[in-house]
Amino acid sequence: MSVQISPSILSADFARLAEEVEAVSSVADWVHVDVMDNHFVPNLTIGLPVVESLLARAAVPIDCHLMIEDPDRWAPGYAEAGARNVTFHLEASAAPVRLARAIRTAGARVGLALKPATPVEPYADLLPEFDMLLVMTVEPGFGGQEFLDVVLPKVRRARELIGDDGIWLQVDGGVSAETIERCAEAGADVFVAGSAVYRADDPAKAVQALREQAQRASARG
Ligand code: DX5
Ligand code: ZN
Repeated sequence: MSVQISPSILSADFARLAEEVEAVSSVADWVHVDVMDNHFVPNLTIGLPVVESLLARAAVPIDCHLMIEDPDRWAPGYAEAGARNVTFHLEASAAPVRLARAIRTAGARVGLALKPATPVEPYADLLPEFDMLLVMTVEPGFGGQEFLDVVLPKVRRARELIGDDGIWLQVDGGVSAETIERCAEAGADVFVAGSAVYRADDPAKAVQALREQAQRASARG
């Protein structure tokens, strides 16, 4: 399993988004863009027009995390615009398999996101329809929240379900120097980090440090 780091621009300066992406683009595998609609989560961020502008400038693939209601209607548009990965929430989708196929048909990888209280086991049979499973390690909606250790057993069980290759296992929320090793030991291989990267003095250095920690821990895990 190879470690991938996906810095979340939710903690970046929204007035300078292109430069903030540029600051990590030589060291990050992805840039994670959190789309929130103030309905699925109690916060509002950006939508497709801003993602399109970022896509025109970014030298790193974009990982869209849609925290929105009715992703069945809106998610394929992000894939058509050129986002390399589009993740939607199981809790918000009316027809997750149909939506996963639509996103793949539009040319993107597709991710399935689960809130902390949503179990993974009932969806085991759906996983082959996805390229990535996102296990949220905070309640979605805000950056800078405390990591929920209580979700780690689910990360471990998710890794058992999906095996060693194929589907990526992403964690998002409270991932930092203090918590990334526990996530990697539990079997995560794609790490979203917002405040741990963009609140650091040197965001690129923070990405590299997180990657080294995750690599060491996943070798142990
Ligand atoms: C929260 C978002 C995260 C957020 C993580 O709902 O999905 O991507 O940016 O921020 P940190 O890493 O600060 O917890
Ligand atoms: Zn996110």
